[in-house]
Amino acid sequence: MAKLAINGGTPVRTEPFAVWPQYTEEEAQAAADVVRGGWLVAHHGGHKHVEAFQEAYAEYHGAAHAVATSSGTTALHVALMAAGIGPADEVIVPPMTFLATATSVVMANAIPVFADIEPQTLGLDPEAVRAKLTPRTKAVIVVHLNGFPADMDGLMAVARERDLIVLEDCAHAHGAEHNGRKVGTIGDLGCFSFQHKKLLSLGDGGMVTTNSDELAERAAGLRTFSGQPLSFNLRMTEIHAAIGKIRLGRLDAENEQRRRNAAYLDERLGELPAITPQQPRENTTVAYYNYVLHYNKDEFGVSHEKFQEALIAEGLPMAYGYFPLQRHVTFQTRDAYGHGCPFKCPFYTEITPPEQRPVYDEADTPVTVDMYENVVVGFTIHPPNGEAEMKDIADIFEKVITNIDDLR
Ligand SMILES: Cc1ncc(COP(=O)(O)O)c(C=O)c1O
Repeated sequence: MAKLAINGGTPVRTEPFAVWPQYTEEEAQAAADVVRGGWLVAHHGGHKHVEAFQEAYAEYHGAAHAVATSSGTTALHVALMAAGIGPADEVIVPPMTFLATATSVVMANAIPVFADIEPQTLGLDPEAVRAKLTPRTKAVIVVHLNGFPADMDGLMAVARERDLIVLEDCAHAHGAEHNGRKVGTIGDLGCFSFQHKKLLSLGDGGMVTTNSDELAERAAGLRTFSGQPLSFNLRMTEIHAAIGKIRLGRLDAENEQRRRNAAYLDERLGELPAITPQQPRENTTVAYYNYVLHYNKDEFGVSHEKFQEALIAEGLPMAYGYFPLQRHVTFQTRDAYGHGCPFKCPFYTEITPPEQRPVYDEADTPVTVDMYENVVVGFTIHPPNGEAEMKDIADIFEKVITNIDDLR
């Protein structure tokens, strides 16, 4: 029996995995060309790269419009405001996501309300959303977590009953599909992030997609100072757009490699006890931002933390770290802008009896807590990592599970 690395044995893998993202000479050249051209940001006709990237992004998604922004956070901000979300409106969000999904609602002066996720996709559970509806619910932000499309049929049905705006937070899901449609085009607005670690990586940047002419026009106006009562500078630069168009052209091939990597792992890891690779819903195509496994600690009597430590010691690049957002200081203090705003703002509290105000208590979302504390381990499987690297990952799990007695 091999000795586990956590107990002083030799790790399965000591060589680092290939880093993501990697940039090419073509992208360096494109950035240099923008600099040489003298227009780094859209200005009096100097915005051809942003326009070209927006057009290509919309076409790739089969969306009528795409509006480029400075980040995924500002894409969410612009999308919410374009949809008319504002003071005293409630927006339902999942608590298992990056902070910006929820705080973008606060940026629009509205109130985030957490609804629980479902275990299969780790996306919002339509019935949990239904349970959180109040007379002030105006929108829902669906997150396609880790690139797994959420239950869009169920969620759209709940939204249609109440005429709610549906935003899709696609920060993890560039190129993922639901029933043959790209995510970000099923709800009213899609929001993407191009932050460094994302599937389409530009350092920073974002995009709003929509099929509505009106929402697109409002989003573009909010993004770049316009005649609207409140508008901002949340633009993307020409350098980011020039690189973005090139990287968009590679996205499908890179996602194919991720899916091949996932299929290899599904086959080998699927045979091992106590762990279950996350399975997509029917009729969806995953864009694997993270590869996620459910770990049943009761099967071995070994804690989630101990199991993770043993995997990391063998060389697994573990990268999973969301916690239930109710724990965050914004929701614990219910004070984002001072004076308790927007949570305790009289404009909201005067029309909302205390029993109807949101509960920022993680006990309210037990599936999220269970996923956080017990069940999920995750890591990335980005190209150029391929079968040789996936073999090492599968060997790591096999070794730890074969020697699980040594962890008790
Ligand atoms: C689910 C989710 N939403 C929104 C964002 C915000 O994107 P950005 O970092 O580009 O502002 C992120 C980024 O990490 C994210 O993971």
